[in-house]
Amino acid sequence: MKVLFFVLLGSGLFAVEQPLPYSHKTHLAVGLKCNSCHKNPDPGEAMGLPKENFCMSCHSAIKTESPHIQKLAAAARQMKAIQWERVYKLPEFVYFSHRVHVKAGASCETCHGAVRERDVITKEVAHTMKACMACHTERQARNECTTCHEEK
Ligand code: HEC
Ligand code: HEC
Ligand code: HEC
Ligand code: HEC
Ligand code: HEC
Repeated sequence: MKVLFFVLLGSGLFAVEQPLPYSHKTHLAVGLKCNSCHKNPDPGEAMGLPKENFCMSCHSAIKTESPHIQKLAAAARQMKAIQWERVYKLPEFVYFSHRVHVKAGASCETCHGAVRERDVITKEVAHTMKACMACHTERQARNECTTCHEEK
């Protein structure tokens, strides 16, 4: 049991504690799209996270009695971004661009799993160098070291 615990911990499958119990499953079921919230602003590397004001377009009327929604409303009022814990994060020395991959036809699910079925996002897809390079080989994308790492 103890061994299993550490194996799971190491693999990142344990959910991080988020500041609000936000569920992708709930929100995708009401018809929102990934890009309703993740807008991939220029220059396109990051997907980005939604503004609290956008959440309030529904939550000024939905579940207003919930303490979580009251916390969200306060954040929107004070224009203080909710400090979501990052789940997927590459080290600084790796270059990555969402826009390049989305344009090449890679789906969100390939790299992030079945998000629309998840209440909580965990690191269910490994973003190791090996995994990046395997897909680059398969897709005949550039694969020399300087594709993803700056020249020293
Ligand atoms: C299209 C409308 C819509 C938008 C936009 C929206 N939500 Fe929701 N949200 C809902 C609905 C519907 C529920 C489920 C309400 C219920 O359980 O009755 C919900 C539930 C929640 C809950 C659970 C509240 C509780 O105490 O049960 C949280 C937290 C939440 N939303 C956060 C957010 C955040 C953060 C955003 C912005 C990133 C957001 N929502 C944007 C419609 C929306
Ligand atoms: C209503 C807004 C909303 C929609 C729609 C939405 N997301 Fe999110 N997403 C969030 C919020 C808020 C977070 C931060 C909290 C969390 O990690 O659960 C987040 C986090 C994530 C993360 C983890 C980011 C990280 O590394 O910390 C991924 C991956 C993600 N979303 C993918 C998707 C995909 C794929 C879709 C479409 C299937 C989608 N999201 C639709 C609001 C949204
Ligand atoms: C080729 C793999 C790949 C694809 C395809 C992909 N992502 Fe990501 N995603 C990543 C990686 C890698 C990170 C971590 C980036 C970093 O730390 O610089 C990430 C991070 C994120 C984050 C955290 C915030 C941010 O801006 O970095 C969100 C949100 C996210 N992805 C959503 C999505 C959505 C939505 C889609 C589909 C439209 C998508 N991703 C498609 C690999 C991918
Ligand atoms: C689903 C397959 C797939 C995965 C997984 C993937 N890539 Fe890619 N990547 C591609 C393809 C295809 C291209 C070529 C796109 C083009 O040339 O238009 C590419 C291109 C790139 C580029 C070149 C961008 C440029 O400006 O030329 C970088 C950097 C990159 N990927 C980094 C990564 C990193 C880092 C990871 C792992 C976190 C990763 N990729 C995972 C398919 C993938
Ligand atoms: C397609 C993108 C990609 C290419 C090409 C690539 N790397 Fe990486 N590299 C990564 C990612 C992502 C990480 C961080 C995740 C990890 O350590 O697996 C990484 C991590 C590393 C690390 C740190 C490993 C550690 O254990 O801390 C070194 C060193 C490295 N790469 C060297 C190289 C060299 C040398 C090449 C050329 C032979 C290369 N990389 C090609 C994506 C890439």
